Amino acid sequence: MDLRQSFVEGMARAATFVSVITTDGPGGQHGVTVSSMTSVSADGEAPSLLVCIHHKSPAAAAILQNRAFCANLLNAGQQGHSDIFSGRDKAEGSRFDRVGWTAGQGGQPVLTEAAASFDCTLKTAMLWETHYVMIGQVTAVTLSDQPDALLYGNRAYRRAVGMAE
Ligand SMILES: Cc1cc2nc3c(=O)[nH]c(=O)nc-3n(C[C@H](O)[C@H](O)[C@H](O)COP(=O)(O)O)c2cc1C
Repeated sequence: MDLRQSFVEGMARAATFVSVITTDGPGGQHGVTVSSMTSVSADGEAPSLLVCIHHKSPAAAAILQNRAFCANLLNAGQQGHSDIFSGRDKAEGSRFDRVGWTAGQGGQPVLTEAAASFDCTLKTAMLWETHYVMIGQVTAVTLSDQPDALLYGNRAYRRAVGMAE
């Protein structure tokens, strides 16, 4: 196994949660499925999070222009949403016509029943080789009554089970 292959295999062993990063504004309405959404800090001027998005993703260009996005942490039943926003589900038409959503406080699309949705203002973006590392300052959080997050690990969707089970 070369270094890249062993990196990919190593990372596949990490179960991550799955988010859809949505954006709307002058740069257009876009959304992309990611496993790279991560909390940065709860204790700065405002809470912040980061997300890594491929530089060729139309969502990345739109976020850079809109200067805002919403990070929607999918609930355990929203595998279909992940497939829609990753392009695995190749149905015609806008991705946003196929899911429930509303415009949040900052005008960004909040996916209905996502475990949590974090409305963000884009504060900084760094292009590191193939991906933009984008940091958002959180301006509002929507919490649904579906707290269990969808997971992805070892190349398949997963659900968390309690430690005692
Ligand atoms: C579970 C999962 C996690 C993903 N994580 C990321 C990610 O963190 N960053 C990223 O740029 N693309 C990620 N992708 C890939 C994008 O969702 C998408 O498939 C890719 O950008 C191609 O999109 P397109 O079909 O709209 O061109 C992930 C896909 C899946 C299914």
